[in-house]
Amino acid sequence: MKKDMRLCVSLDLESSAENLALVEKIKDYDVWLKVGFRTYLRDGKKFLEDLKAINPNFKIFLDLKLYDIPNTMADAAEDISKFGLVDMFNVHASAGIEAMQTVMNRIKDIPNRPLVLAVTALTSFDNVGFKKIYGEDIDKKAREFAKATFEAGLDGVVCSAFESLDIKNSTSKEFITLCPGIRPFGEDSQDQKRVADINFSKENSVDFIVVGRPIYKNSDPKAVVERILENI
Ligand code: C5P
Repeated sequence: MKKDMRLCVSLDLESSAENLALVEKIKDYDVWLKVGFRTYLRDGKKFLEDLKAINPNFKIFLDLKLYDIPNTMADAAEDISKFGLVDMFNVHASAGIEAMQTVMNRIKDIPNRPLVLAVTALTSFDNVGFKKIYGEDIDKKAREFAKATFEAGLDGVVCSAFESLDIKNSTSKEFITLCPGIRPFGEDSQDQKRVADINFSKENSVDFIVVGRPIYKNSDPKAVVERILENI
């Protein structure tokens, strides 16, 4: 895959109604929609159907970051893939290569299977916090996780824009990088520790930028989406 960078909008608002109102405002744009824990736990599969009803061309990224024993992860991956509504979902690379392989083996023959990414390091970690848990520096460990993800046959990784190029160089240019922690035009970083803007993302060959609060907290989300799309 080497296309232009894509925008993935995070739907992290407090209610289904608010998320759907946001999506209505941006329904004419070619964007991906990211549905995370909060939204999926509350609104479930019906919410995914509601999104496709607004515009069937929307692509849906189900950001549940699966992490469990291999068989349980594969069961969940199979169900997600059979919904026929999800275009991409993710797992944690730290669940291990065996778990990732088990997931891919289980879904590889499902027609139009979703893309599968693995989370390397959460973008809310700084190096000190990361090292406490994983015992290594973020960039080194993120590269190792990415290599394991690539070997397991997944389509790409969730990483910070700071690791995107390095990960592509140590795997493949085609290996997808999807990067949260994006503040398109240098907006407030909030709880994200390693944030990057659009230009930095472009320079680092990021495939998908994920943007949440800079869009949905803005009084004119449509204008922000339009400005982002003009710049990517
Ligand atoms: O509002 P903001 O743009 O910071 O939202 C980023 C989104 O990306 C949130 O939904 C967050 O859960 C998600 N995410 C992240 N870091 C990761 C993976 C996902 O921030 N490594």
